[in-house]
Amino acid sequence: MHIFIAYHSDYGSTEKMAQAIAAGASASQPDCQVSIKQVTDTTLEDLQQADVIFFGTPVHMGSMAWQMKKLVDETSKLWMENLLEGKVGGVFATGGGLGSAGGGIEQTLISLHSNFLEHGMVVVGFPKSLPGYADAGLQWGVCARTGNHEGMPQGISEAALVAARSYGAHVAAMAAHILGADL
Ligand SMILES: Cc1cc2nc3c(=O)[nH]c(=O)nc-3n(C[C@H](O)[C@H](O)[C@H](O)COP(=O)(O)O)c2cc1C
Repeated sequence: MHIFIAYHSDYGSTEKMAQAIAAGASASQPDCQVSIKQVTDTTLEDLQQADVIFFGTPVHMGSMAWQMKKLVDETSKLWMENLLEGKVGGVFATGGGLGSAGGGIEQTLISLHSNFLEHGMVVVGFPKSLPGYADAGLQWGVCARTGNHEGMPQGISEAALVAARSYGAHVAAMAAHILGADL
């Protein structure tokens, strides 16, 4: 099973989350191959060759960063030929989160789900029973607030990275279950 993680990160928080997801996936399914790339280096071939795809982005002005949206739009070429159909997907995001409701992180995760579902992919959420959910979980995926009370960056917490490892492990395990017969 090949797991591919594409992320955008300007200041490193989303990148740390991507690395923690990769660590969790590898620990959960030692035989799988895990690749991580910045979204600007990701090719359509990378996505086509993967069995499991994670997309991760910081929240920018209430939704995904344009670098992630650019790749999402480019996948329309794969959509034309149903080339991502049946793959398993997971999503993650970080946001400064000024204000009590999270500054758009839910919308960002749901928007990535929509893109995966448009391709006919199977999206795996984040069950609340898993480690880390209370600190950095939403039913749609793993997410973390990285700003302080004034909205200034303070980085990603260890608790959020625990959640990311847990989510990576869960998606990999679910993918092995879902795709097992075909791999
Ligand atoms: C241009 C820009 C717009 C942003 N807009 C939002 C926003 O709407 N909501 C939010 O919660 N955080 C927002 N942030 C904060 C980032 O989402 C947050 O700092 C994120 O964790 C950065 O991730 P990174 O370290 O991977 O780049 C914005 C940051 C930038 C640079």
